[in-house]
Amino acid sequence: MKKLIAVLLLSPFCFLLMAQIKQKPKPKAKPISAAAKVSAANGLMVFTQNCVSCHQADGGGVPRMNPPLIKTPWVLGDQTRLVKIVLNGFKEDVEINGDTYSNVMPSFKYLKDQEIADVLTYVRSSFGNKASAITLKQVLATRAANGK
Ligand code: HEC
Repeated sequence: MKKLIAVLLLSPFCFLLMAQIKQKPKPKAKPISAAAKVSAANGLMVFTQNCVSCHQADGGGVPRMNPPLIKTPWVLGDQTRLVKIVLNGFKEDVEINGDTYSNVMPSFKYLKDQEIADVLTYVRSSFGNKASAITLKQVLATRAANGK
C-alpha cells in the first residue's frame, strides 16, 4: 500500500519531467539564422557608411559607373573572391546585364573583419539576393591568405 501511495505521489513529477524534456528547443539550425540576421542588420550600417554612395540603397548601382549588387556572379558566387573584392578593391572590367563597368572600386581593408562579414552577409541577403551568410571565420582566413 505504501508503495502504491509513493507511485501515485511521484507520477505527476514524472509527467512534469517528461513534458519538460519534450519542450526542449530543437537543436542548431535556428541559432545560425538568428546570428545571420544580426550580422545582416549590422551590415546595413556598414553598407550605409561605405558602399551606398556607389552601389545605392537598393543595390542597383549607377548605370555604366558602379555595378549593381543584385544577383551578380560576384555577390552570389565564390565567397573568397567576394571577400577579396572588399579587401583589395576591384579593377576588372565587369559586364552585368549588357553594361560594362570600368570604374575602380577602392580597397576597404581598413574595415574590421566582423564589419566585412556583416556587410557581405547583408549584401548576400538583400536586394533580392538569397545567399548564405559570410562568417567572421571566412573573413579571417581570407585576410590571412590575402596578406592585407
Ligand atoms: C567609389 C565607389 C564604390 C564604393 C564606395 C564601393 N564600390 Fe563596389 N564597386 C565599384 C565599382 C566601380 C565596381 C566595378 C569595378 C570594376 O569594374 O572593375 C565595384 C564592384 C563591386 C562588386 C563586384 C561586382 C558586382 O557588382 O557584383 C562587389 C560585390 C562590390 N563592388 C561590393 C562593394 C561593397 C560591399 C562595398 C562597401 C564595402 C563597395 N562595393 C563599395 C564601386 C564602389
